[in-house]
Amino acid sequence: MAYLMESASEGTRLKAKTDRQSVDEELSLAGLRTGMRALDAGCASGAVSVAMADQVGPSGRVVGLELSRERVREAKRDGESRSHLKFTQGSIDRLPFANGSFDFSLCRLVLEYIKNPQPFVDELVRVTKPGGRVALIDVDGYGAFHHPLEGPRKAAIDVVQKLLAGAGFDAYIGRKLFSLLRRAGLSDIDVHVRPYHLIAGAATEAQLSNWRYKLDTLGPSARKAIGPAWDEHAAAMIDHLKDPDTLTYSSLFVVSGVRA
Ligand SMILES: C[S@@+](CC[C@H](N)C(=O)[O-])C[C@H]1O[C@@H](n2cnc3c(N)ncnc32)[C@H](O)[C@@H]1O
Repeated sequence: MAYLMESASEGTRLKAKTDRQSVDEELSLAGLRTGMRALDAGCASGAVSVAMADQVGPSGRVVGLELSRERVREAKRDGESRSHLKFTQGSIDRLPFANGSFDFSLCRLVLEYIKNPQPFVDELVRVTKPGGRVALIDVDGYGAFHHPLEGPRKAAIDVVQKLLAGAGFDAYIGRKLFSLLRRAGLSDIDVHVRPYHLIAGAATEAQLSNWRYKLDTLGPSARKAIGPAWDEHAAAMIDHLKDPDTLTYSSLFVVSGVRA
């Protein structure tokens, strides 16, 4: 299935929303260490791959793999000045790497878009060497938890959730990462849960612009599904985010395990 958030500026959006400090902490929690050979599967324009390359250092190496040719081009342009970081185009369910190629394989914020993620995880395990780590990082409760919600705002949240689910997006993938790794045969599985998408008080301009982008990208299919009512829901969602009383959040699961 096509990537739900596809648009010409998706690489730029993802780069802008990547919080380097948080990513560094996530990578450490997931077990990335100096000198490792690491894979960033579904790397978009490479912001996380760059953080990985800095963490493994020049004694390690990082490969970023991405489905979109355009985002691979952007990643190469911005990241390949580091000689131990390379990018390639491909799909996670058919990784172009031999068995046991990596010490550490990461898939971050991708599985939420994948209808049947187990074969993707199995493929990450295949390319990880025995004793290496497979790490999955993803959201739980995407767009689901807000306060205060009344009238049109509650309706807007419900509609957005329904449209995402209808488009094959799993807003609750975070809680499923543990069993995905267990069923792939990994041991010593570590689970960390961190706050994500946390907005307390009126959203900043950057947060609003990220939300506007997401609502605009959903717009054409949403209008097809529910007609012009979509525009009222999208406006109510933005009103909610501008409200100084707003509290909204989701959780980010950082789960990693060891290949036997
Ligand atoms: C939300 S972005 C996450 C990017 C990055 N991992 C991060 O943490 O910021 C999801 C990316 O996964 C890519 N993607 C989706 N399906 C894929 C697949 N089957 N193989 C490789 N990449 C895929 C999309 O093109 C998109 O660039």
